[in-house]
Amino acid sequence: MDPQAIRQDFPILNRKINGNPLIYFDNAATSQKPRQVIDTLTDYYTNHNGNIHRAIHTLSSEATELFEKARERIGKFINTTSPSEVIFTRGTTEAINLVAYSLGCGNIGSGDEVLISLMEHHSNIIPWEIIAQCKGFTIKYANINKDGTLNYDDFESKITKKTKICCLSHVSNVTGVINDIKRVTKAAHDNNALMLVDGAQSVPHMKVNVRDLDIDFLAFSGHKMLGPTGIGVLYGKKEILQKMPPFQGGGEMIKNVSFDKDQCNISWNELPWKFEAGTPDIAGVIGLGAAVDYLENLGMNNVFNHEKELTQYAVEHLKKCNNITLYGPNDLSQRCGIIPFSINGFSSHDTAAMFNEYGIALRSGYHCAQPLHQIFKLSSTARASFYVYNTKTEIDRFIEILGELIP
Ligand code: ALA
Repeated sequence: MDPQAIRQDFPILNRKINGNPLIYFDNAATSQKPRQVIDTLTDYYTNHNGNIHRAIHTLSSEATELFEKARERIGKFINTTSPSEVIFTRGTTEAINLVAYSLGCGNIGSGDEVLISLMEHHSNIIPWEIIAQCKGFTIKYANINKDGTLNYDDFESKITKKTKICCLSHVSNVTGVINDIKRVTKAAHDNNALMLVDGAQSVPHMKVNVRDLDIDFLAFSGHKMLGPTGIGVLYGKKEILQKMPPFQGGGEMIKNVSFDKDQCNISWNELPWKFEAGTPDIAGVIGLGAAVDYLENLGMNNVFNHEKELTQYAVEHLKKCNNITLYGPNDLSQRCGIIPFSINGFSSHDTAAMFNEYGIALRSGYHCAQPLHQIFKLSSTARASFYVYNTKTEIDRFIEILGELIP
């Protein structure tokens, strides 16, 4: 993989910020878009725009074909058994809400338990808390070790016969810790619980194979993997999705609605459309298909290894800097390309603002993961996160500026 060649595909990397070349280290928040994705969106709106599954005219047929072909490619990318296991949502957050609301309406109630880890993004905590308040089920939280890794013993000991579903991020958006999904999925299944994985920070960066992991649900977002904003995916095992009630009602998700006197009779559409009410983000889906093609071309193992190399390089150099504290496990084999840190005497926002003066984009704050920051006894951290177009030269510049700012 040649990051210099890859960079040529990303027009935004030519931007100057405050007179300096942009160094984009906020990839865990959102990724930049290659020309191939931007051109796909332009081509769709210029030549093929029509509503899908609704008309027999040419534009509608073309849009439908592009849309359903993208579903097939995205399904293959994560190795689903069928494209109908790919449900389009607005993003990871909506995908998790879909599962929480649908299971909450159908299968989980008083006396049942849901198990969640304390390293989760708020989007894998709050939907469950909202539904638990309505349905009266119990949520248990599994502990995190001081270095940000999952306490597997605690997680496994909290799965009981009452547990209906276990929820865990594949990769933490704060520390980049990679969780052993196969291990916890086996523990969940041994107790007849379902396994939901938040793949927002894993699917863009590594090969994720839903069949190999044997997980029941996977949620991820297009915009973190070179695709457009506003589009995401819920993968679900077909036999489970078939038994779940719909999440939202509207057009597309029903097969038949008829009235018998005052009685409304409804039958749901087939999968995946049962879960796709209303006109979807057609351009977003097609754009995500182009992003998947781009990543497949690079090879997900190459993507993973490139980011690993950058992380090792950055951590090695950051450890030699004064007045900086790094968070997350020392063993980098357990981590992806995300580095949270703080600089003594500076708030995370001051840190990000200082680097922005030099054209370097970092994220600061608690990254929608306050419980994990509470465990670290921190209100916030600064965060650098890498992707396919980042280089060691950019990291050198980052370290050089750090040395100037904090001698
Ligand atoms: N969830 C995204 C992040 O971690 C926005 O920055």
